[in-house]
Amino acid sequence: MDARLQQAMNEQVREEFFSAYLYLAMATDMALRGLSGFAAWLRIQAREEVEHAMKFVNFLTDRGVPVAFQEIPAPRPDWDSPLTAFRKAHEHERYISERIHDLVRLAREVGDLAAENFLQWFVEEQVEEEALTGEVVARLELAGDHGPALLMLDREMASRKD
Ligand code: FEO
Repeated sequence: MDARLQQAMNEQVREEFFSAYLYLAMATDMALRGLSGFAAWLRIQAREEVEHAMKFVNFLTDRGVPVAFQEIPAPRPDWDSPLTAFRKAHEHERYISERIHDLVRLAREVGDLAAENFLQWFVEEQVEEEALTGEVVARLELAGDHGPALLMLDREMASRKD
């Protein structure tokens, strides 16, 4: 595999694990605030991010590329409110989408068709990730400071299955 693409994919392993860290930090914070539905939703999201990281790990391994595991930065531990957390989540997913698009462009540039094909799943997944987090932000903005609305939303968030 092209050296630049290898490096960029190794970096994406770190980014996906960091995403899991980020959502887990948000989940624990929401749990401490008594918002168990938001916490459950975010824990599921964190698990998905580990699966994303593993897809990159397995793809690199299948291609005979060593995985250079990098340090994962510590996420912010305290999020003030679900709205602050989910605004960050949405912003983070937009950032991840940009990274995935850059990876696709690089795979094309170096003519790595297998990598380009592998990345298509992530291109589609990111559309969903942005939509999901964006919808939660919109609902939280509607709820505002209204406690009962927030608690109703928390109950809805608890119904996420995967
Ligand atoms: Fe793996 Fe949420 O991007």
